[in-house]
Amino acid sequence: MSEETGEETSAALVLEQFGDLPRLVERPVPRAEPGRTVVRMLAAQVGHLDLNIVDGRFGILPELPVVPGTNGSGVVLASDTHPVGSTVRVNGKGVGLRRDGCWARHAVVPDAAVTAVPQGTDPALACGFFSPAGTAWAAVHSVGAVLPGERVLVTGAAGAVGALAVQVAARTGAEVIGVVGRPAKLEHVPPVAKAVLAADLSAEAVGGPVDVLVDTVGGPVLRESLPLVRPRGRAVLVGYTAGREFTVDLADFLLADVAVLPVNLMTRGREVAADAERLLAELSAGELTLPIERHSPDGLAEAVARLRSGAALGKVVLDLS
Ligand SMILES: NC(=O)c1ccc[n+]([C@@H]2O[C@H](COP(=O)([O-])OP(=O)(O)OC[C@H]3O[C@@H](n4cnc5c(N)ncnc54)[C@H](OP(=O)(O)O)[C@@H]3O)[C@@H](O)[C@H]2O)c1
Repeated sequence: MSEETGEETSAALVLEQFGDLPRLVERPVPRAEPGRTVVRMLAAQVGHLDLNIVDGRFGILPELPVVPGTNGSGVVLASDTHPVGSTVRVNGKGVGLRRDGCWARHAVVPDAAVTAVPQGTDPALACGFFSPAGTAWAAVHSVGAVLPGERVLVTGAAGAVGALAVQVAARTGAEVIGVVGRPAKLEHVPPVAKAVLAADLSAEAVGGPVDVLVDTVGGPVLRESLPLVRPRGRAVLVGYTAGREFTVDLADFLLADVAVLPVNLMTRGREVAADAERLLAELSAGELTLPIERHSPDGLAEAVARLRSGAALGKVVLDLS
């Protein structure tokens, strides 16, 4: 409650300048508007996309000040379209990108950015599953078209997208090799894959050429992994945590004869939504695993540092409950 105005207030992380970290402030509880849903947020993802936006290093940027957070989950407090009290996830329609996002205890978002999730879903899973599940599905199936019996190399295999890509590819009947950058992460590669350290990457270490590479890391890891793909194989590019640039020697590129295929969840979100929802049910049932780290809003700096350095294990989530 604000002492000056008597208005009810609520905590939000507000970004005032690109390159700084958002500040935790108390602001009036946002009010309901036509076409918008008020959500009491319970959890919000801190993802690489959010950090790119906070840093001002993304193709679409919001006007400042803004509440970042492209993915969240919570309970509907007021809406013309969504039942009050229902458990929902929030993403898309510019949330956290062109307008205030989910790093707040209360958010007012377009009705179309709100999707029901099964009652009882862990809020951290509800806010964190869609991006890795949708991206892993798109990488393995829609873009990589992995077939049973193929050999698939996944980099960042203990990360959120990587760990799910390993599991989705293995279920397809592929033989999966998971690459990690740090020895401590070897044991966090899902056991359906053979785990290999990036420093040891070689044709021998991965047991010969692979049919498909799913790269979630970029930079030097992509450079070292690409030559391991067989001619006429596919390299599916998902992320760039270790480096945004990718240069090719055209002569080598043509000789290698590997199709380099980008994944863009923003354009494929609708296409993979049903598959991602199915993966959520399996994650909730413990049939698939997605590692999650939970942080409080006043621990944002540590959460961001762990994500930026690559030390984080899986999804990094703010607990707003
Ligand atoms: N294309 C799309 O539509 C789409 C959708 C979702 C996510 N993404 C992107 O996919 C990538 C992976 O996302 P995620 O959610 O799986 O992230 P994550 O859980 O943080 O995994 C990323 C992995 O990258 C590795 N890494 C290597 N160098 C790093 C560095 N300097 N900083 C941070 N990580 C480093 C780390 O693994 P090791 O320690 O094993 O090297 C880390 O586990 C991100 O770039 C994200 O933006 C793209």
